[in-house]
Amino acid sequence: MTQVFINGARDELNVQEHDSLDASVQELIRAAAEARKQAYCPYSNFAVGAALRTSDGSIYTGCNIENGAYAASICAERTAAVKAISEGKRDFVACAVVAQQDNGFTTPCGVCRQFLSEFVNGKDIPLYAAQPTNLPLRVLCTSVLQLLPNGFRFLNGK
Ligand code: THU
Repeated sequence: MTQVFINGARDELNVQEHDSLDASVQELIRAAAEARKQAYCPYSNFAVGAALRTSDGSIYTGCNIENGAYAASICAERTAAVKAISEGKRDFVACAVVAQQDNGFTTPCGVCRQFLSEFVNGKDIPLYAAQPTNLPLRVLCTSVLQLLPNGFRFLNGK
């Protein structure tokens, strides 16, 4: 099996063939790939698409949207999340991220991990990271809490 890296760490066990995944997961990955086409990324030229499924079965998608004032940019994952949350859907059950890096999978940045972890309600959710142009398509299957163990939470009832 080809070596796979998640942020520098080798990971082979969690990589699955796209076609072996549930149809609902394939649909989520397709939605993320489609959303990636809308990426506005003239500064990095790195397009990312994300899709979130909510507990009612809906899919909310997002792309990265950059800004000349770089810090004002937003990642695909948070675009998808704010779209869902602002429509009253904050019970996420799965997330897909699609971007192209030849040497590994693109997983959410630290800010997005923290952002998403707020909405997994303690139960964690699977996160699928795919490379759109790698054929046959392979998918890294991980989870939000696997990517962000011990993230911050208010413990005082908030
Ligand atoms: N980016 C995302 O949208 N999601 C990720 O998971 C990784 C990084 C964006 C931010 C920026 O627009 C570009 O990719 C390069 O960092």
